[in-house]
Amino acid sequence: MKRPGRKLKVLVVGELNLDLILDELAVFPEVKKEIIAQKMNLVMGSSSAIFACNLSTLGTDVTFLGKVGKDQFGKQVEESLKNKKVNTDRLIYSPTLKTGLTVAFSFKNERAMVTYPGAMQELTEKDVPDQVLKDYDHLHVSSVFLQSSLRNGVAELFRRAKKLHLTTSLDTQWDPEEKWDCDWKKLLNDTDIFLPNIDEMRAITGKKDAKSGINSLKEFSNTIVVKNGVKGCLAWDGGKFYMQPAFLNRKVMDTIGAGDSFNAGFIHAFLKNKTIEKCLELGAICGAVNTTAHGGTAAFSSKKDFKNIACTKFNYSIDDL
Ligand SMILES: Nc1ncnc2c1ncn2[C@@H]1O[C@H](COP(=O)(O)OP(=O)(O)OP(=O)(O)O)[C@@H](O)[C@H]1O
Ligand SMILES: [Mg+2]
Repeated sequence: MKRPGRKLKVLVVGELNLDLILDELAVFPEVKKEIIAQKMNLVMGSSSAIFACNLSTLGTDVTFLGKVGKDQFGKQVEESLKNKKVNTDRLIYSPTLKTGLTVAFSFKNERAMVTYPGAMQELTEKDVPDQVLKDYDHLHVSSVFLQSSLRNGVAELFRRAKKLHLTTSLDTQWDPEEKWDCDWKKLLNDTDIFLPNIDEMRAITGKKDAKSGINSLKEFSNTIVVKNGVKGCLAWDGGKFYMQPAFLNRKVMDTIGAGDSFNAGFIHAFLKNKTIEKCLELGAICGAVNTTAHGGTAAFSSKKDFKNIACTKFNYSIDDL
């Protein structure tokens, strides 16, 4: 499975889009009226990209496989990934659809968002053939319900990855249709680490709390980590339960991407063969560091800066990343 003596390679299969953030609106937009935004930012969005970028900053070798359009937005996505040293050789350019875009209207502490998924909806399991999978040690998939064509084939993708001896992780994120339609038994059987948050766990299992949710999936699952914001997370490793508290942040800028940063920390430690306690700890510190800056990647500008924030703001020193 893992080949010691060389750096392990991770393949992230997921959605890619830009976020157009219209900030500091005086009121919410209304039909037939025009209002002014005091600030505007066009930045890389997408949960999978935040995960890939922050995992790369921690020092893991990461390649992204996703679909964008043959347009300026697609080029910006590619450049943003490259700036974080994520390998973009496997990006696929759709000949028909444009790059996905989310427009966020930000008013006081509230946000309204409109998403055009675009090219991400064309990505299928067939776009990730065995010839590609075999070059990697670990497969991570995120946001399956935003990628309608990938969703139906995701269990098969994980089956093929396991057959080729990759380790696997999955964060489904929320299902905008709230159908949660998936062959969970088949998919979780081939998922080494399942990383839902508490709301997703409730929606999937119909159980109220994390422990009952985990108990209902145990029979056909491996490691499960249920994230619950400032309440930390509850994990199960196939044998025991573990509770990891969150690191307290008194000055939260925003929580965008906290879950993806948690995933990055957990997987980084997992690939270094750390114990589950260490994986959870690095996940939690990454989630907390994420909240010290706006957006999902700003607090992870470099490994050195990340270590510095962990140490100065959370009194947590990391010697061995
Ligand atoms: N405000 C916070 N302060 C400190 N740590 C936090 C905070 N929010 C989240 N974390 C840490 O990050 C972890 C994951 O966050 P969360 O539970 O919000 O994930 P998520 O719902 O999947 O997030 P996302 O919205 O990014 O998908 C938490 O378990 C916790 O350790
Ligand atoms: Mg999440």
